[in-house]
Amino acid sequence: MTATANPERTFDVAAVRGRFPALNQTIDGVPPAYLDNPGGTQVPESVIDAMRRYLIEANANSHGMFRTSRLTDETIAAAREAMADLLNAPSPRSIVFGPNMTTLTFHISRAIGRTLRPGDEVVVTRMDHDANVAPWLLLARDHDLVVRWVDFDTQTGRLDYEGMAAVLSERTKVVACVYASNALGTINDIRRVVEMAHAVGALAYIDAVQYAPHGPIDVQALDVDFLACSAYKFFGPHVGIVYGKLEHLESLPAYKVRPAPDEVPDRWETGTQNHEGLAGVTAAVEYLAWVGEQFGEPHAAGVRGYDGRRRALKLGLHAIKAYEKTLSRALIEGLQAIDGVTLRGITDLDALDDRVPTVVFNVEGQHPADVAAKLGERGIYVWDGNYYALSVMEHLGLEDTGGMVRVGPVHYNTLEEIERFLQAVREVAGANR
Ligand SMILES: Cc1ncc(COP(=O)(O)O)c(C=O)c1O
Repeated sequence: MTATANPERTFDVAAVRGRFPALNQTIDGVPPAYLDNPGGTQVPESVIDAMRRYLIEANANSHGMFRTSRLTDETIAAAREAMADLLNAPSPRSIVFGPNMTTLTFHISRAIGRTLRPGDEVVVTRMDHDANVAPWLLLARDHDLVVRWVDFDTQTGRLDYEGMAAVLSERTKVVACVYASNALGTINDIRRVVEMAHAVGALAYIDAVQYAPHGPIDVQALDVDFLACSAYKFFGPHVGIVYGKLEHLESLPAYKVRPAPDEVPDRWETGTQNHEGLAGVTAAVEYLAWVGEQFGEPHAAGVRGYDGRRRALKLGLHAIKAYEKTLSRALIEGLQAIDGVTLRGITDLDALDDRVPTVVFNVEGQHPADVAAKLGERGIYVWDGNYYALSVMEHLGLEDTGGMVRVGPVHYNTLEEIERFLQAVREVAGANR
């Protein structure tokens, strides 16, 4: 499809939803409201088709001397190109695939650990998902490193950048930081974090899992050393991705089996990859480019310096970000108006650019799991607990009381779904009184 198919170029959520078979089902007579997207998104039909086609037409191991193996090599190469385009990476060789972000982060952190000495320091934040905390804590334990923590403000939901500056020194070797919190929804100033890390000679390892479905990423503009994401959070299958600067991917000592290629990025990819998943990754990126072609032109002024699919992807993510602000606003305003509901994170409606629409709340007198279950009974899918953002819930003092309820729309959700969700929360909260 081309941009001319939508002459008005405004965001059309019905057209978007038409591409997602899961969104067009009813279960027990009720259409599910998928508001569990921070835990994983639904996929367009084209992603399902690409995976199916791979398994029929190209299913083989890589680097063989026959047709299906050659097609598999092409599938892998196409997925690298697609991810390099999505992240604006300088080369497809700087894209590493693996089972998920957590496994890749353990993998890369161990390799970094082989270059560190006792007394070296790593910086982690209390706003991070544990996938970008635990690998560094365990590395510190194994190599006698010192761990420095950075807080967030429990009132404003913002990262403590001054606190980060205060713990950095020439002993700091890694700064691990989340791009957008999968609990509070806060988007961090990653350019600033990277600059601070580089000023002391440290590597910046950025977790973009939560941010990737919500906004444009440019690893070159950010100058990050590593940036990790997961395709199942941006409308693709269960595949993890790490962008790494080539100089690091080439020089760091990878844990690998001896017969595997020594070249980058193959030396980082342990075992056989999820080839059908990689076919799906390419299709997910193509889908996001389609969003840009269809609905992105109004955002063209903010997207300069990109061509072809890279430009379409940036336009698509800008269109998504603009639409999602309407969802954030409706959610925050709606929840704040319900008696007995408490929100955490950025609630300033003038600061919606600084957050993704992931919103956490509690209902007075009710366990978060009970609230989530009552919403689930109404066909409204939300999460509860800590969603592995363990330090966030500990810092909020809510870890021992069941954490918080999390509602997380993406661009395929509608204002009607948000209203349905709010009405259900009103009922659940009202039952209390
Ligand atoms: C912010 C963030 N980081 C990391 C992860 C872990 O990703 P994966 O499941 O790919 O290991 C998640 C998953 O919820 C997440 O939200």
